[in-house]
Amino acid sequence: MRVVIQENLQAISRWAANHIANAINSYNLELRSKDRPFVLGLPTGSTPLLVYKNLVAMHKAGQISFRNVVTFNMDEYVGLPQNHPQSYWHYMHENLFDHIDILPQNINIPNGLAPNLDLECQAYESKIASLGGIDLFLGGIGVDGHLAFNEPFTSLVSRTGLRTLTPDTRLANSRFFGGDPTQVPTQAISVGIGTIFDARQILILASGPSKARALAHTIQGPISHQWTSSILQMHPNAIILCDEPACDDLTVSAYRYFKSLEQ
Ligand code: GLP
Repeated sequence: MRVVIQENLQAISRWAANHIANAINSYNLELRSKDRPFVLGLPTGSTPLLVYKNLVAMHKAGQISFRNVVTFNMDEYVGLPQNHPQSYWHYMHENLFDHIDILPQNINIPNGLAPNLDLECQAYESKIASLGGIDLFLGGIGVDGHLAFNEPFTSLVSRTGLRTLTPDTRLANSRFFGGDPTQVPTQAISVGIGTIFDARQILILASGPSKARALAHTIQGPISHQWTSSILQMHPNAIILCDEPACDDLTVSAYRYFKSLEQ
């Protein structure tokens, strides 16, 4: 696992946007890009907002095109229509898709209103496989170490499926629902830990002291379904990109080690 520590959210957002742009641009120079698009996994939440802003700016400056990119979002609330201001569909269009040149048919977001949610999950997983898997999965991390909506005690080999949100997550996300946890949907469709793990590269963002405990468990804890993000220790090409406050609970020796490697 590579851990990149930057000063603050602005710095990690710049780093992440550059990394994504470089990955797409170098892929487009390869022969296989003629037969198969670059497949990008995407998160929602507050942390990636500035990454998306940077990507939009880079697109407007002619530094990156999304014409040959297919995206798969990590998750979506069950029961919210697309035009609900808190649906992840709405979030993604407002913050990224409406401002770049991605083809609408290349955007994939689970449908939380599908008549058969189990079938929707299976079809989502199959579509990822049919495109040859995910090249780069960008993600955030919950305060309880969840990736996507894979809450504590979700199987570490789980695939796309229905998830029940924990009271902690509903409380954390209530800031987007007028501060009322009861307004936060109780369920979501989420890619699984196994789905994320299959990506060729994983880039996880963590910012601020509220993520310090989760980050310490992710990087230095044992691999455990109690902290689903700890599975990243097993991935051959995972990067944790975090700011200084998110490192508050790392041991000094681990912090120094990762800092020295990036200098
Ligand atoms: C939600 C999302 C996760 C995200 C997490 C943290 O629960 N399902 O994908 O990583 O929140 O969000 P934030 O970046 O707002 O802290």
